Amino acid sequence: MKLSKQPYESKDVVEVYEERYIHHPLQAEDINFEIKTIEGLLNSEDKWCDVACGTAHHLRKAKGSFERYGVDRSHLMINQHIEDTDYKVNYFIEDLLYFNPGTSFNLVTNFWFGYSHQETLNDVLKFFEKMIDLTSENGTIILSVHNHWKLFNRIPRLTTDVDSQFRLDALQWSYVEPSTNDVYKCISPHKELIIETFRPHFEQYDLIEYPRISAKELLILKGKKRCN
Ligand SMILES: C[S@@+](CC[C@H](N)C(=O)[O-])C[C@H]1O[C@@H](n2cnc3c(N)ncnc32)[C@H](O)[C@@H]1O
Repeated sequence: MKLSKQPYESKDVVEVYEERYIHHPLQAEDINFEIKTIEGLLNSEDKWCDVACGTAHHLRKAKGSFERYGVDRSHLMINQHIEDTDYKVNYFIEDLLYFNPGTSFNLVTNFWFGYSHQETLNDVLKFFEKMIDLTSENGTIILSVHNHWKLFNRIPRLTTDVDSQFRLDALQWSYVEPSTNDVYKCISPHKELIIETFRPHFEQYDLIEYPRISAKELLILKGKKRCN
């Protein structure tokens, strides 16, 4: 089996991506919940940037008259369904870790654990810092957080044992992509570490459950504080 960090450079993966991860009846309910949440938070003149947007299903299908921007390092993902929309979507084919558009956005989002496809935990944290930097003052972030089997609720981030403190920072997991049979590795930080990273930059946050039992939770951070 081949180990790879870049599943979205394979045409075989990209061609079936939406069928498997967006439109499959088990997934569609989660995706529609995310889209409804976005529609409820955006005002008509707002600028919204979805990072690691992939095929940009959310950007192409959410209803409203806001400005839409998507960033992804895979041109295959961006181009796969690019025409299937009633809206103008502006794309950047770039690695988010080095993305500097010179502007900020009222809403910054990331779905389907795009953050977990980084080489190291430090890069995952850099991905989060980039999301924070891209958010305008008083703006909002929506992040879909990986919490499979509610694992991070059962295993505390911090354990004190005699004189030592142990921290569970992240989980490394892997999956076999059926269309290529390749194994892809991903990194999911403990959800407390995710909250610790974002929380100081925002006035309020909420972590909400999806309507069905899911491996995801939705972190919503509102009121981005002024940068010092
Ligand atoms: C599982 S897909 C999710 C796509 C989309 N967010 C969705 O909900 O369908 C992960 C996407 O993240 C992108 N990605 C991961 N890390 C990235 C980075 N550092 N910069 C830009 N894109 C990235 C991949 O290219 C891929 O398209």
